[in-house]
Amino acid sequence: MTAEQTYETPDCLILPDRRAAEAALAERIAAQVCAKPHSVLGLATGNSMIGVYHALVGMHRNDGLSFAKATSFNLDEYCGLLAGHPSSFASFMREHFFAHVDMPRDSVHLPREDACAEYEAAIAEKGIDLQILGIGRNGHIGFNEPGATVTSRTRVVDLAPETLAANQRDFPAGETMPSHAVTMGIATILSARKILLLATGEAKAKALADALEGPIEPRNPASFLRLHPKVGIVCDSEAAGLLSSTRTHADA
Ligand code: GLP
Repeated sequence: MTAEQTYETPDCLILPDRRAAEAALAERIAAQVCAKPHSVLGLATGNSMIGVYHALVGMHRNDGLSFAKATSFNLDEYCGLLAGHPSSFASFMREHFFAHVDMPRDSVHLPREDACAEYEAAIAEKGIDLQILGIGRNGHIGFNEPGATVTSRTRVVDLAPETLAANQRDFPAGETMPSHAVTMGIATILSARKILLLATGEAKAKALADALEGPIEPRNPASFLRLHPKVGIVCDSEAAGLLSSTRTHADA
């Protein structure tokens, strides 16, 4: 059986390891941009995404993949960090993607805590063709923590204790990370034409199983993705470890 034969509902592609999952997601983003150079991309941060951006940068350098006509909107950002803070998502995106590809600076959009309504309006005007998501250990998407409603839009949120515990490692030793963030809402994310979520590693297995097979409810914000008609999940076998056995693994 090949990996391409493992789609389920919602489309779920289970690959043997993290690297294969990252490459598969990068290929799908590249295919979107090739098919529609003016694509509007919703972009995500997080350690899961580093390999995806690395692969896209490789395709830009070696295969001529161009983002010159594309536009991007990032999902979220910490509140209260000074411009250029190394742990900001703006810095993450610059370091892993924007500094290495040809997307014009004017086409890059990052959320700001003091301009939520403007961000929402800009997204509504352009429309996101492909939204990329990671998933938090508690099922968060963007920074829509448990309790987020399906009607939520771009806004400032409190970060959940488990997110503070998980993300503190991304900040310099001795520095306390922000307790708030600005994030696209669930309704903002669901307004995208297509959505692809990447989940890798055992730490995401419970959140992914709850999202795909538990109730659709605010307790697991990623479960709301099942309300969208065009959602794909790309994961590795570790993250897929708690999915029901009716789902077929690519390495089975
Ligand atoms: C981050 C981001 C999310 C991301 C999630 C998982 O902090 N707000 O967009 O999907 O938490 O991150 P990681 O890939 O580092 O586990």
